Amino acid sequence: MITMHDIIREGHPTLRARAEKFTFPLSDEEKQTAQKMMEFLENSQDPEIAEKYNLRAGVGLAAPQIDVSKRMTAVLVPGEEEGQEPLFKHILINPTILSESVQMAALAEGEGCLSVDREIPGYVPRHARIKLRWYDLDGNEHVERLRDYVAIVVQHEIDHLNGVLFFDHINKENPFAKENPFAATEDLILL
Ligand code: NI
Repeated sequence: MITMHDIIREGHPTLRARAEKFTFPLSDEEKQTAQKMMEFLENSQDPEIAEKYNLRAGVGLAAPQIDVSKRMTAVLVPGEEEGQEPLFKHILINPTILSESVQMAALAEGEGCLSVDREIPGYVPRHARIKLRWYDLDGNEHVERLRDYVAIVVQHEIDHLNGVLFFDHINKENPFAKENPFAATEDLILL
């Protein structure tokens, strides 16, 4: 299983590299890596398992974060109440944002990252809505419109595939500036 020891931290060059696209069909090894990434998110959101293995809770994990420079990320956004279906649970292969809203959004609490072991305050402006295309492990194409929190998580993850970290987006002079058409949403965690 993936633990925090497998997750590389800021300063590691892989986090700043542009990851490579997959070609289909995926190898068994690639599929296993993808499934392990999703399993990490599930474990990290399970209080008992997370405590036992000392996992930080995460809603997304991109392959470059485990030093695999390929365009793949697991996303697991839980339902709002316990026992509910996840809002979004997918392994995204070669994800692409097809279009994005002019309106921006940010999490009121700022963002965090499993690869960043410090708090960095400030709004991280994201598009409030995106149209996303991705491929699943079997190579099937999916297109979905995402908004708000899920859209923000996915943008954070796609950034990882392009060597971008969340704090790159924070306004350095005024971390809480609201420059754009902007809606700060409530709550947040680690992406
Ligand atoms: Ni991250």
